[in-house]
Amino acid sequence: MSSVLIRGGTVVNAESSIKADVLCEGGLIRAVGPDLQAPAGATIVDAGGALVIPGGIDPHTHMELPFMGTVTKDDFYSGTSAGVSGGTTMIIDFVIPGPQDSPLDAYRTWRGWAEKAAADYSFHVAVTSWSDRVREEMGELTRNHGVNSFKHFMAYKGAIMVDDGVLLNSFSRALELGAICSVHAENGDAVYHLQRRLLAEGITGPEGHALSRPPALEGEAAERAISLAQVVGAPLYIVHVSTAEELDYLHDYRDIATVEVLLNHLTQWAPDAYDRLGPYAVMNPPIRDRRHVDAAWAAVRDGLVDVVGSDHAPHSRAAKERPWPLCAAGLTGVQTIVPMMLDHVSAGRLSLSRLADLMCAGPARVYGVVGKGRIARGYDADFTLVDMKRRRRIEDSWIVSPCGWTPFAGTEVTGWPIATVIRGQMVMRDDEVLGQPAGRLTKFMG
Ligand code: URP
Ligand code: ZN
Ligand code: ZN
Repeated sequence: MSSVLIRGGTVVNAESSIKADVLCEGGLIRAVGPDLQAPAGATIVDAGGALVIPGGIDPHTHMELPFMGTVTKDDFYSGTSAGVSGGTTMIIDFVIPGPQDSPLDAYRTWRGWAEKAAADYSFHVAVTSWSDRVREEMGELTRNHGVNSFKHFMAYKGAIMVDDGVLLNSFSRALELGAICSVHAENGDAVYHLQRRLLAEGITGPEGHALSRPPALEGEAAERAISLAQVVGAPLYIVHVSTAEELDYLHDYRDIATVEVLLNHLTQWAPDAYDRLGPYAVMNPPIRDRRHVDAAWAAVRDGLVDVVGSDHAPHSRAAKERPWPLCAAGLTGVQTIVPMMLDHVSAGRLSLSRLADLMCAGPARVYGVVGKGRIARGYDADFTLVDMKRRRRIEDSWIVSPCGWTPFAGTEVTGWPIATVIRGQMVMRDDEVLGQPAGRLTKFMG
């Protein structure tokens, strides 16, 4: 059995940071402690004073997603290679059935694509319509394919938006199956109505994007989803919460709602992002003004936020540069989420332990991912080695995704992932992705 000893680092978990070595055998952590002895033949990794944090889990990515007449520009190889380049060891990607697909058909397609993943992975499966077949396949996916998370879009009218009836049926089926339900909370009818009005007024620039998706439409959808979840008695996971009002409201629903915030909503604000980046700031929910960014940080600090995700949805420059509202919404993010969050630590906005909570233990807890998110005996040997002193400028040239751009180009960060290890294999060292892709489907509790 292959052994690896990571020597001389500081091991960071959500609850503590200690100077310790980590001994790994057969892809699992065998021991964490001072002055561990390497078994004969073990590979020694000299951490040289670096931080050893649990491998980053990005719970929100979109590889090869058909979206707004285009397809996101990462397949599972490029997208997960981008992830490991930036210190991410696992992604949870969204299976989104097309109009002709059933959830199981779509799942099989995504599962096939993921065979070439360089990081570990699992899936959320979107429920985009309701029928006996969908009900049956939710059971099949949960029982026989290890899926435990179903996603619902309250936006994207005319495409994947679902109504309250679908939400009620799906929430109650998921509860029966012991699976998790999540929502993209924006009132898609009202967004569509506002888009038509703004277009009629002659607005075709990216500024129309945020105007057509005001905070109240996100809040309305989130409150409606919570009411429906309460009717059913199902817990609810609200992805990419981006408004101050919604965050405030969610404090009173800790018994039913878990909360994801995106890196971009912690890092960019209007009008600055739209002035600097134009269409390269267009994402859903939109980048909002500073008040909402401040509220997101307050919610990180007071413990409301359970996870931080990237919502990696890399579109080509051509798709981004179409005039609004045709400009494809979504940004690259899986490669930059760890370095950008490390920079937030360096700037004093959160502690390293809170980072490990939000990006490692949190996603594992919320989604019941077995054996990940923590550096402890018996867990997978997944690590991100970090040099907190290293300063780097993020550049488009570093981006692995074929789309070749990041909204963080030109940003100077302090704190950098210098190596990524997945189940005991070093898969990135000093920017270089190593070895053959060997990502695996992860297991869920239950
Ligand atoms: O703009 C975004 N986030 N595009 C991806 C789809 C979604 O809403 O998550
Ligand atoms: Zn969304
Ligand atoms: Zn998304």
